[in-house]
Amino acid sequence: MKKEITMTVNGDIYRLAVDPWRTLNEVLRNDLNLTGTKLGCGTGDCGACTVLVDGRTVSSCLTLAVEVDGKEVTTIEGLAPSGEELHPIQKAFIEKGAIQCGFCTPGMELSAFYLLKNNPRPTEMEIREALSGNLCRCTGYNKIVEAIAAAAEQLQE
Ligand code: FES
Ligand code: FES
Repeated sequence: MKKEITMTVNGDIYRLAVDPWRTLNEVLRNDLNLTGTKLGCGTGDCGACTVLVDGRTVSSCLTLAVEVDGKEVTTIEGLAPSGEELHPIQKAFIEKGAIQCGFCTPGMELSAFYLLKNNPRPTEMEIREALSGNLCRCTGYNKIVEAIAAAAEQLQE
């Protein structure tokens, strides 16, 4: 039996009837068409599905949609403050060449956003640790770490 839930996604309020076994990832991608959130492993290992729920990073593949009833979700589509100009983290990823296939990028950038919100001047080790739940098969990570360090500097200005 479906359950009625209300959640705010990127500032918009949604009222939905969802089956209790459906994941947040499925609902975001299939019901709300927010396909910036990726589905990789589906088992909590790769971080491609990372979103923010009430400001904290979660794996949307392991989170049931009914668990976010009454909560606030931010996906990669909601990262840029104006919705038009890219967020400094997104700009830095482009400028530093930190994106190749791009599959890991939304999750990486939301993990970076969470890090910089809580630790605006992270060391390289702290950046690497913050990304430990996000896997990238393309870049070798160094450019991603450089991009986050650059974004941290940019956000300080
Ligand atoms: S798809 Fe969720 S952690 Fe890999
Ligand atoms: S850029 Fe391809 S998985 Fe990271």
